[in-house]
Amino acid sequence: MNQPVAPSAEDQFDEETSRRIEAIYLTPDVANQRDKVLAMLAPRAGEKALDIGCGPGLTTQALAQQLGATGKVIGVDIAAPMLAIALKRCENLPQVSFSQCDILSMPYENGSFDIALATQVYEYVEAIDDALVELARVIRPGGRVLLVDTDWESCVWASSDDARMRRVIDTWNQHIPEPQLPRTLKHRMERAGFNDVKVDVIPLVNLAYDLHTYSNGMSTVIGSFAAGRNGLSAQDIAEWQADLKKQGDKGQYFFSLNRYVYLAERG
Ligand SMILES: C[S@@+](CC[C@H](N)C(=O)[O-])C[C@H]1O[C@@H](n2cnc3c(N)ncnc32)[C@H](O)[C@@H]1O
Repeated sequence: MNQPVAPSAEDQFDEETSRRIEAIYLTPDVANQRDKVLAMLAPRAGEKALDIGCGPGLTTQALAQQLGATGKVIGVDIAAPMLAIALKRCENLPQVSFSQCDILSMPYENGSFDIALATQVYEYVEAIDDALVELARVIRPGGRVLLVDTDWESCVWASSDDARMRRVIDTWNQHIPEPQLPRTLKHRMERAGFNDVKVDVIPLVNLAYDLHTYSNGMSTVIGSFAAGRNGLSAQDIAEWQADLKKQGDKGQYFFSLNRYVYLAERG
């Protein structure tokens, strides 16, 4: 069976979804992930940084604070609603600016940046190899890049109906053109001109049904996407979501998902 064409990032990140994603990325789960990612990238005061697919600007803001007043961060994103949120968040940080563009063609000179990071972005890009070559172009030789992507096949989510759970994840995999990108990303980065690619994993784990968690927020985003696709009705999705709550009521809620992290140097 052919993989259905994933909707474009502009279509997926409308105002409502952008707000939902912002709320999910404010949960302690994702805040903790951000802290770990930034510690791995280890930004140095005064560096010039690119936040690729900056979304609601949470990473842009944290990066700017670490780089200090002598640093510079440019956040790029294709979705206007995301950029509006990011702009507001960073309005008091003069070292931050934003640009609306496709990461396949960024309006910067060769070697413009010391560091770049992209969390949960390249999996949305169909022409991934071209996008990695474009990333290599804008980073100076010896500069550092850090990419984070997810493979939803690493997801373990307790449910009383494994077949329905499987269908929900299979359907969610259709929201991006590269749902299993982490498996091939290391060698694709090497081919695009990055050296010394180190791979690490940040697990997200939720052990309770709690509104202020990553998995709870994602159950809404995934449900909105999956209802009406792949034979899943709105009723099926409501039952799946009710079952997650039931797992929590029984004290048996369990969710885990791996974020794969790639840290490399521009050759
Ligand atoms: C899941 S969000 C992640 C946001 C942010 N990196 C974070 O972790 O907080 C993915 C972001 O990538 C952006 N994006 C996807 N494809 C893009 C492309 N081709 N060019 C620019 N931005 C893109 C989307 O608009 C969206 O804001």
